[in-house]
Amino acid sequence: MTRTVYVNGTYLPETEAKVSIFDRGFLMADGVYEVTSVLDGKLIDFDGHMNRLKRSLRELEMTCPLSADELLAMHRELVARNGIDQGMIYLQVTRGNPGDRSFLFPDASVPGTVVAFTQNIPHLADAPAAKTGFRVITIPDLRWSRVDIKTVQLLYPSMGKMAAKKAGVDDSWFTDEAGMVTEGTSNNAYIVKGNRIITRQLGSDILHGITRAAVLRLATEAQFEIEERPFSPAEAQQADEAFATAASIFVMPVVEVDGMPVGTGKPGPVATRLREIYLEEMRKAAL
Ligand code: PDD
Repeated sequence: MTRTVYVNGTYLPETEAKVSIFDRGFLMADGVYEVTSVLDGKLIDFDGHMNRLKRSLRELEMTCPLSADELLAMHRELVARNGIDQGMIYLQVTRGNPGDRSFLFPDASVPGTVVAFTQNIPHLADAPAAKTGFRVITIPDLRWSRVDIKTVQLLYPSMGKMAAKKAGVDDSWFTDEAGMVTEGTSNNAYIVKGNRIITRQLGSDILHGITRAAVLRLATEAQFEIEERPFSPAEAQQADEAFATAASIFVMPVVEVDGMPVGTGKPGPVATRLREIYLEEMRKAAL
């Protein structure tokens, strides 16, 4: 089936969707994005994603041509038109097409470009990887220093995924100059020690994950202690468990860091339970 995608107010087959070669998203990576998961044909934590989109736009002095209501209607329309039960919606807003290449931002009369498309992933909730867990390597975090803004500058994260692939593992976790883990290429990183869940504190050096916020809230309700601080790869290797979170993987156990097993080397009870709680609660609140 040909996907129906959204481009600047129009729904059309993916093969007919066009964006200008002068679009600043294309030439300058001058754009922001969100990925929202879909379960049972409904949007997971949509308000969280849209609030972060607003923040990303504000930090870059960009505006979105669509209101919050219009964004919700558009996401629902894409889910309906593409018959998505489980999957994701990718939304991108760029600073638009000034008609030529220039480093300077165009004036406000140039409208932003909005594109969105669905990804059909029938086994998103019961992903086989959640049963075996991710194996990760660590690599230096060479991204720019405002990764709290969800920009489309994903070259280094792509290189991180390729480094993982070459090493025969599932993902890379980035480390800062002090050797401490910042986050995964496209997810937030955690370790578990007893009843404590340890994850790096919010700052400009990690993306403020929407899944992270929900998981920490649900973990607190489930009587876990939360410690927001950096941890090293060595501490992760000695932890009881590790896991990662993102809209694309929910809560994913991490069973190996730099070739060393974490805990038993199998998905642990805490990550497994948090995944269940997260899926149950988020399904209830889905839009
Ligand atoms: N990535 N950190 C980074 C660098 C990310 O790119 C993401 C999300 C996250 C998790 O954020 P959230 O819980 O809001 O999905 C953390 C998306 C899924 C992607 O690029 O595909």
